[in-house]
Amino acid sequence: MAMSEDLKRQAAAMALADVRPGMRLGLGTGSTAKHFVELLGEKVAAGFDCICVPTSEVTARQALSLNIPLSDLDTLDRLDMTIDGADELDANLNLIKGGGGALLREKIVASASDLMVVIADGSKLVETLGRFPLPIEVNRFGLGATRRVVAEVIAAHGAEGDLRLREATAGSPFMTDGGHLILDAFFGRISDPEALSRDLLDIAGVVQHGLFLKMCKKAYVATADGVKALSVDTN
Ligand code: A5P
Repeated sequence: MAMSEDLKRQAAAMALADVRPGMRLGLGTGSTAKHFVELLGEKVAAGFDCICVPTSEVTARQALSLNIPLSDLDTLDRLDMTIDGADELDANLNLIKGGGGALLREKIVASASDLMVVIADGSKLVETLGRFPLPIEVNRFGLGATRRVVAEVIAAHGAEGDLRLREATAGSPFMTDGGHLILDAFFGRISDPEALSRDLLDIAGVVQHGLFLKMCKKAYVATADGVKALSVDTN
């Protein structure tokens, strides 16, 4: 296994140790969350009891293939814990997510959870959010108009680079599980994430964005020196 995959798996294994029988779990999306789902699948095959809500169709398919029992947020009103990856995390465990395009469901599931735990390799830790392009999920209707306003807002917040419509393949836009599009905003650094979050959500065509602020209370970050547990009190 490549080094970075091994680190992701180590972080996933630490999070798995927090899971108790009977828990209602949110299952994240991405290459790190995939390791967690794989490890959880092994536990379930050995008789472990849990019920899970996936944050994407991809994760749902993986979980189903491993016979992990699935439910949804119509049936379950709260979850005990969500375990997910991140594209970036800072020392306060504020995150950028959505590199895999699942940010909307990830945010809904994390918001319905008593605890959000992030698993990551050390390359995701940053001093200031913004090195990773911020995914902004937008409605397909009125894309041009929405894009112009988003461009104004990100420029006012000091974006250093472009605003790009994410593509699945050259010339065809990436579409989220909810049928929306994604604009990736290249900041460099985001100096006031709270204000940026508010300003983006004020735009009519914006469905959600990838800033997860004060949502994550615990993270397992794996480096060659071992897995570090980070935590913050967000109450
Ligand atoms: C999915 O939309 C994302 O939020 C992922 O959780 C994030 O991109 C991290 O993915 P990796 O674990 O593949 O880096």
